[in-house]
Amino acid sequence: MDESLFSVFKIPLLGDTILAPMDGFSDMPFRSVCRELGSAVSYTEFVNAIDVVQRNRGVMQRVAKRVAFLPQERPVGFQLFDNDPDRLLEAALRLMERQPDFIDINLGCSDRSVSGRGAGAGLLRTPERIAEIFRKLTARLPVPVSAKMRLGWDEASLNYLEVAKIVEDNGGALLAVHARTKKQGYGGVADWQAIAEVCQAVSIPVVGNGDVRRVADIDRLKAATGCQAVMIGRAAVGNPWIFQRVERADVPREEVLRVIRLHLSRSLDFFGEYGLVLFRKHASRYLSSYLLEPELRQRLMIIERADDFIGLVEENLKE
Ligand SMILES: Cc1cc2nc3c(=O)[nH]c(=O)nc-3n(C[C@H](O)[C@H](O)[C@H](O)COP(=O)(O)O)c2cc1C
Repeated sequence: MDESLFSVFKIPLLGDTILAPMDGFSDMPFRSVCRELGSAVSYTEFVNAIDVVQRNRGVMQRVAKRVAFLPQERPVGFQLFDNDPDRLLEAALRLMERQPDFIDINLGCSDRSVSGRGAGAGLLRTPERIAEIFRKLTARLPVPVSAKMRLGWDEASLNYLEVAKIVEDNGGALLAVHARTKKQGYGGVADWQAIAEVCQAVSIPVVGNGDVRRVADIDRLKAATGCQAVMIGRAAVGNPWIFQRVERADVPREEVLRVIRLHLSRSLDFFGEYGLVLFRKHASRYLSSYLLEPELRQRLMIIERADDFIGLVEENLKE
């Protein structure tokens, strides 16, 4: 019997919460921890299609790091961004040898270096190009193609229903909707009503995203919109237990220590010594809810040996 909550074409998804792709955060170590705690899908950090198609070995090594995943992370989607449909297609085709389960197209990045050149949220201004991207990729790729979008460029040009229909009509398999405009960036309030409208307008699965901060928000967002799953970004950093639907305050000290050790050891295995440096931003979030002396926090952020870091955390973490 298929016990999945929903499927993306033939990919069954076994849960209704998903870690959001986050540049600088959703690397293999963090994704795999979240996946083990209940995130139903792994989306990679976004990858520039230009980097994939150029034949520069150093650049390709960086790309390979961004799309590396553990087998237990499946289903895995590689997220790509670009403004050029043919280059996106070429990049996706090249990445097929790494066997992703789906390809996700970024229609939401608000960063000026991306949206300013018509990629990410910049594509929302050229819906005909979104149609071309989905037409071309769904015709040629052996895996489903999904989109992660915002509501529009700004409040004067909200075109989420048009974009959602375009993605669906051109073969898109799933839509994640971050319910903000590009102009809003990460501020203001996410418009959940817009997610509800998208759910009404399309028949492909919709994943709602934006302003999920606590466990209760997951079901609130689902009930308010009818979306199939909920995507969680910032609130999952330092709190992957949100995917288990456990409130952060209820996570026992031993479990916090277990996950810190696991996450850090994966980070070291994957990135080498630099893994500790990359782990620091996660560490500060894991530890943010504890009363620690400011000097101790500072020490933890500059410590150079992983064993010393863990020893100090174990000594000082009190319920
Ligand atoms: C540091 C950071 C990096 C992000 N990188 C990406 C990315 O690579 N691709 C993407 O589609 N969205 C990216 N986002 C947006 C998130 O996926 C998500 O849509 C947004 O943070 C709203 O969800 P939240 O309120 O749960 O954080 C990023 C967000 C943050 C904060």
